Amino acid sequence: METQKSFDLIVIGGGPGGYVAAIRAAQLGARVLLVEKDELGGACLNRGCIPTKTILSDVKLYDQARHSSFLKADGLRVDMGQLLDRKNKVVKALTTGVGFLVKDNGITLVHGKAAFIDRNTIEVEGQKGKEQFESQKIILATGSVSAQIPNVPVDGKAILTSTEMLNLSSIPKDLIIIGGGVIGVEFACIFNGLGSKITIVEMLPTLIGTEDEEVIRGLSTLLRKRGIQVLTNTKVKEAKPKKDGVEVTVTGKDGKEHVLRAEKALMAVGRSPYTEGLRLEKIQVAMNGKFIKVNERMETSVPGVYAIGDVTGRQMLAHKASAEGIAAVENASGHPAKVDYSKIPNCIYTFPEVASIGLTEKQAKEKGLQVTIGRFPFQSNGRALASGHSDGFVKVIAEKDLGQVIGVHILGEHATDLIGGPALGLALEVTVEEMGKTVQAHPTLNEALSEASLDAIREAIHLPKKR
Ligand code: NAI
Repeated sequence: METQKSFDLIVIGGGPGGYVAAIRAAQLGARVLLVEKDELGGACLNRGCIPTKTILSDVKLYDQARHSSFLKADGLRVDMGQLLDRKNKVVKALTTGVGFLVKDNGITLVHGKAAFIDRNTIEVEGQKGKEQFESQKIILATGSVSAQIPNVPVDGKAILTSTEMLNLSSIPKDLIIIGGGVIGVEFACIFNGLGSKITIVEMLPTLIGTEDEEVIRGLSTLLRKRGIQVLTNTKVKEAKPKKDGVEVTVTGKDGKEHVLRAEKALMAVGRSPYTEGLRLEKIQVAMNGKFIKVNERMETSVPGVYAIGDVTGRQMLAHKASAEGIAAVENASGHPAKVDYSKIPNCIYTFPEVASIGLTEKQAKEKGLQVTIGRFPFQSNGRALASGHSDGFVKVIAEKDLGQVIGVHILGEHATDLIGGPALGLALEVTVEEMGKTVQAHPTLNEALSEASLDAIREAIHLPKKR
């Protein structure tokens, strides 16, 4: 039997965009319905950020033990069962935690798949059958799924997406990674660390084209040093599952076709927005290609309907989705809010890590800005040397006249934690002198941030004199 219930806000999708939006709305006093068809936490907690980072941490330990000069780790081996078990426990702890927060905030959670009836009414098909719910405000936070390309049939056995890769119970002898973006390089590090022979195939001239060129040059060199084969300017034409693995046909730098063979291939050519079954045609919402079009207040073309996170495109990042969720709720409650996309940090969990915020050197130049640039290598940082991880550097880009910091780029161990300082700095419109003269504790990696900033004004202490 169908029942109709009314709420101040309905959020469709319980990932880091949707559940954060629901909690923020509940804080503001709204009666909120959250609809989720799977587990709470979305791709981030269940199939993305959290499981990969859990596995990466274990692999890092194994990798360090194998390459240590003083640990004699003869006979060391990986127990994939235990590794997956720990990953599953971490995911469960976090999704359970989100469930607790949702309940604690008095949010009504309905499990099922939502579809529009009209702009204020949705139908949810769940275990209890079909139910209808009504609200003047609806937020779409339905996320994304792995993108596909023609002639590469993902069968989940020989050709996999990141979701299946996270549940592999054995380590492939060799792995071809289709796409040298963020997912491609992170999985390259995981499986290289576990002992697989890795080939990354990237059609563009560099890996991760969105990051600073100098950082990516440095990362590519370090990945190659680890034995990862990186084929740039090489496009995957087709892939075929075979009895004992996979065959991938590529068009190489030389313009000729080559056939690569491996036990498995990972499809990592981007992600597509997920709107399947939502019946968006019922509300005639404007699209931007496959993405839902929104303005800076996260409003769609349909009054009262908002969209946030991966389904809207832009950067597909969990923390960006959460920020958009909060902005959408505040706008829907009459408190104007928008997200400053120029101050969203990017983190790539490779060996070593990459983290950045603000403009790259190329972007700054394209904008016609006069810049001053400072750099500091981790090889000159005591803590980095002491930890045995001194690859990489910090690069600080500041606007020349006023010295305002407009970009910070880090390649190195713990880069993803180090970017927190610059994120606060950029939010407070810090100058390069202020960042350079901030006293950082010794010995810490943070000192490299101060030194790179001081280098931008030619005052670095631990660098050879500039002549
Ligand atoms: P991506 O867009 O970062 O990279 C895909 C790459 O595949 C591109 O470099 C593209 O040139 C290449 N490509 C496309 N077709 C190809 C072909 N036929 N042959 C060879 N190369 C081809 O997408 P990715 O890595 O799948 O990640 C999806 C999203 O998830 C991204 O937006 C990313 O930001 C996000 N993500 C973020 C993480 C983080 O913040 N640490 C971790 C993992 C994913």
